[in-house]
Amino acid sequence: MAIVFITGSTDGLGRAAAQSLLDQGHRVVLHARSAERAAAVADFAAHAAGIVIGDLRSAADTKGIADQVNAIGRMDAIIHNAGVYTERSRGATAEGHAGTLAINTLAPYMLTAQIARPKRLVYLSSGLHRGGEGSLRDLDWTRRSWDAAKAYAESKLHAVALAYALARRWPHVLSNAVDPGWVRTRMGGAGAPVDLDTGQRTQSWLAVSEEPAALVSGRYWHHLRQEQPAGEAADPAFQDALIAGLSELTGVALPAV
Ligand SMILES: NC(=O)c1ccc[n+]([C@@H]2O[C@H](COP(=O)([O-])OP(=O)(O)OC[C@H]3O[C@@H](n4cnc5c(N)ncnc54)[C@H](OP(=O)(O)O)[C@@H]3O)[C@@H](O)[C@H]2O)c1
Repeated sequence: MAIVFITGSTDGLGRAAAQSLLDQGHRVVLHARSAERAAAVADFAAHAAGIVIGDLRSAADTKGIADQVNAIGRMDAIIHNAGVYTERSRGATAEGHAGTLAINTLAPYMLTAQIARPKRLVYLSSGLHRGGEGSLRDLDWTRRSWDAAKAYAESKLHAVALAYALARRWPHVLSNAVDPGWVRTRMGGAGAPVDLDTGQRTQSWLAVSEEPAALVSGRYWHHLRQEQPAGEAADPAFQDALIAGLSELTGVALPAV
């Protein structure tokens, strides 16, 4: 049985993946942005291997999350699930970053660099990543007027590029990205066509399955099938430039091998 850390497990797809993995007998480390939000998982937190607390908008909190996970032990898999959709404005985090970039891109990057290396990494992307090409000139939205949908699309393209970059850099780690489809969650809304159980299935399967089909790396998945992502996401030159940009913005280096 595996031990799996899932970011943003108080609601939606993260919570559903946590419940599904616990039901299968795996150990799960939960994550909530605050002690108050941890109350949302009080019903099954007692069955979890732990719950770590921290707001992914904050670099200091994100480092704290990494420290808390490392104190629990080495994870077999990490599902980078937490995310925000269309933020009303660029905002500015304590470090001055755009909120969407901080939560959806910088936090998974920093956690990847700061948590003891697991056997598997899964990054939640979206079909909307296909509208996210061309972000490198202004990763942090300091030169453009705010476009919430574009910022989300860029962050989800970053998720795929991160998964692919890690697959290349860390050949002993299985690293994949998932488009869960348009799912009925707080983010997806009540009218979304995909139910929660279907929406969580691919990332949970990639995290723990021993089926040969799941033991691959550097792939983009949708409902248990591989798909081709946007050109930029699969381009090693873009991936390397993105990692360099994230390293510069965060001051956190990604271990090379
Ligand atoms: N739903 C869809 O249709 C859809 C489609 C494509 C991709 N996705 C992706 O799937 C992932 C999960 O989406 P979802 O639909 O489950 O969204 P959701 O229902 O809104 O849940 C998001 C989760 O992320 C957490 N989170 C957000 N900001 C955070 C922060 N600053 N610090 C700590 N935790 C934070 C939330 O915590 P709180 O509960 O405290 O807010 C919650 O647990 C996201 O990465 C999303 O981009 C979703």
